[in-house]
Amino acid sequence: MEDALSRLQGLIQALPSGLQDHLHRTRDTALELATRHNVDARKVEMAALGHDLLRAASDRELLEQARTIGLTVHPVEERVPILLHGPLAAQRLRHLGIITDAEVLEAIQWHSTAWPGMGRVGLVVFLSDKLDPMKARRSPWLKRLAATARESLETAAAEYLTREIALLLKAGSLLHPASVEARNYLLLLASQPPGNGRSHLTPNRTS
Ligand SMILES: [Fe+2]
Ligand SMILES: [Fe+2]
Repeated sequence: MEDALSRLQGLIQALPSGLQDHLHRTRDTALELATRHNVDARKVEMAALGHDLLRAASDRELLEQARTIGLTVHPVEERVPILLHGPLAAQRLRHLGIITDAEVLEAIQWHSTAWPGMGRVGLVVFLSDKLDPMKARRSPWLKRLAATARESLETAAAEYLTREIALLLKAGSLLHPASVEARNYLLLLASQPPGNGRSHLTPNRTS
């Protein structure tokens, strides 16, 4: 794992400095949440540092890479290629043998849209990306979301998705189905009677 971390850090050093700073802030926020919620800190660190490995790639590069590796591209991703930077980063890091852990790869893959059934490593990274202090300090709403995230990862992720989906609808934008399904999943989870687990709510993976 140590070797994997130094290899990942080597890749990150080639990224634009502003993006590197975002990755480090996301890592710091994610480690705080991981400690608070007893989530594996090593997994969280790898996912947080790797999540935006391809964030600086152009739309054209992302679509080309997706075609090259035979990744199934949803029509919404075809129209909004930035949504591919997480899935492609997960593929790249797995291909390089830097990350093999399924939970870490899942967290990287779905950090933009979220995914129904996403584990707690994924929820920590999803939220930490949005709660980057550079963004949060300008937004009272994000500050409140950060407080909610300290209490419940699931509640905070559902609140974020509700707001994000509402904003996209208001703007007449496309919705990625994974975000809609993730929100449904989290709301259903919150209304489950005590004792019922997550597993039966998790849909089959389609991509
Ligand atoms: Fe991202
Ligand atoms: Fe990010």
